[in-house]
Formats: sequence, C-alpha cells, structure tokens
Amino acid sequence: MKEFIAGLPKCELHVHIEGTLEPELKFALALRNGLSLPYASVAQMRDAYAFDDLPSFLKVYYEGMAVLRTEPDFYDLGMAYLRRAAAQNVRYAEIFVDPQAHTSRGVPFDLVIRGLRRALMDGYDQLGVRAQLIMCFLRDFQAEYAMATLLESLPYREWIVGVGLDSDEKGNPPAKFAAVYARARREGYLLTMHCDVDQDDSAEHIRQALEDIGVDRIDHGVNVLEDQRLVELVLARGVGLTCCPISNGYVTDSMHAEGIRKLMDLGVRVTINSDDPAYFGGYVQENLEAIQDALQLTADELVRLERNAFEIAWLPQHLKDAYLSELDAYTSR
Ligand code: HPA
Ligand code: ZN
Repeated sequence: MKEFIAGLPKCELHVHIEGTLEPELKFALALRNGLSLPYASVAQMRDAYAFDDLPSFLKVYYEGMAVLRTEPDFYDLGMAYLRRAAAQNVRYAEIFVDPQAHTSRGVPFDLVIRGLRRALMDGYDQLGVRAQLIMCFLRDFQAEYAMATLLESLPYREWIVGVGLDSDEKGNPPAKFAAVYARARREGYLLTMHCDVDQDDSAEHIRQALEDIGVDRIDHGVNVLEDQRLVELVLARGVGLTCCPISNGYVTDSMHAEGIRKLMDLGVRVTINSDDPAYFGGYVQENLEAIQDALQLTADELVRLERNAFEIAWLPQHLKDAYLSELDAYTSR
C-alpha cells in the first residue's frame, strides 16, 4: 500500500509555504542574512517544536519565518517545497502564503510574491509540478489590514488564484472579514478559509463561511459533522474540505480519522493534505499513509481522495480532466 501511495498522482490543496520551511533552510537563510538563531543545531531546533494547540503552534511558526527577508529567500523556499512535492509525485499544488506575516515585519509584499512566483514558474519548467498561490489574511489582525492587503494584491491579480483566512481563530470569526471577502469575490478571486478543528464555535464558523460569506471551499472543516443541516449544504454545493490528519494530531487531541471516514462515507469531497509539513513532520504522502493506516483504506478509497482533490482544484476543466486521466491510467496499471 505504501508503494501504491508513493506512485499515486497527487493534488495538494492545503499547504502553507511558510510551514514548509525546514530547519536546514532556516539555518542557511539565517547565515545568508546575517541573523543569529537561538538554537545550536537542527536537532535542537526540532526539539523546540513543542505544540499541543493552534496558538502554541502559531508562535513557533511565526518565529521561524523571521529568517525570510529577500526575494531569493522566498524563491528558495518555494523551490524547496516544489522539489519535495515532485519527489512525492504531487502533480498540482495550491499553496498558501501569509503576506501579512511578512509585511507586518517590514518585508515588502512585492518581494514575497515575486520570489514565490518565480519559484512556481521554475517549478513547472524544471520539475513538472504545476502550482498556484492562495493569499491568506491573518484573522488575528484587524479587518482593515486585510482589506489593505487585498488592495495591495490587485496589481498581482493574475498571479494569485484565490484568498484564504488563517492564524488564530479564537474570537476571529469569518463574519469579521465579510466585507473583505465580498470585495475579493468582486475582484475575481476564488474564496476559501480555515475553519480549524475543534475551535470555540467551529460549527458556527462553518455556517458563516457557507451561508454568510459563500466560500468555494473550507480548509479543515471536520466539525461540519456537528450539524446535519451544514453537511447537507456542503453536499448540495459540492464544497470541498481540505483535511490535514497529521496536523490535527498536533493541534487537537487526535487525527480525527473517524470524522474523515464519516465525511467520505457521506460523499463529501474530502481531501488529504499536509498543512505545515516542516513542523508536523509529514508531507502529503505521509499524511495519506497515516490516514490509510488509521482507517485501513483500500486502493479505491485512496484514489477517491485524490480524485476529490483534482475535482475541487481551482483549475480549468481541461487541466482537471488531464490529471484525472493520469489518475485513471495509474489505477488501471
Ligand atoms: N491553521 C491556522 N493558521 C495556520 C495554520 C493552520 O492550520 N497553518 C499555518 N497557519
Ligand atoms: Zn492550514
């Protein structure tokens, strides 16, 4: 089964580029930028990755990205992820970036987006991995800052496929960003947002995302199971969920494998993703292995998960069809 998963053509829809910053690259960038890190070694840095909920993870995540300063830093970060993705047979990825995590510490928006854009172009040319950027707003900052970031993104509209919402969900409901999302929709962006697992008011946040904002997709979203009406809404609209089992195991008390099983059985378009692989210790392949192991998934069920991902991807139909054909060719082999 491990071999089957390794060869499976994959689609990753929930990965934060800053969450792919491996300790080795952190040290290299610190050296290049003349910064000192409070760790003597890669091993010591990894030992400090102690988190058991979303806020404790986010603290380490934001501290870690302080070494990212220049356009080549973002290029190298993007290429490092795409090399990993290529090695795991990821054929297509939608990659989150948190511009405000950089602009808030004085790194220009332009440089962040240009570095990543250049990586995505080279990643396609050199590795054959297609990828697009999704710009996330940080929900623990004011809505006005999100709106300013949205406006700042407009000259780069062709380089960004959609918007998302991440960071600390406590006290930061979707409704806080209703005006930002309405404007993003008018500008032609596709819409997703995190509804993290087991937050205060998770089900109410999912309701707001679906009914008040009208999102195209939900990131995480397992708590939709708490409300049958919302499950029916997700099914009726074909809204996909981007689940991240290994991440769930770190920021909540479990992988929520049974919830993922239930969603699959209900016919919800659930997908398996890595979230912040450099911190949670698993890229998409390891996440597929973990959920296969927990649920004893069959080959057909694994294919179903990847089929869901390609179907809900933000790609034109002819490209989705090409990837789905690749998937079919793999399974018939
Ligand atoms: N949830 C919220 N914010 C995040 C995450 C996440 O899983 N990863 C990076 N920022
Ligand atoms: Zn996430």
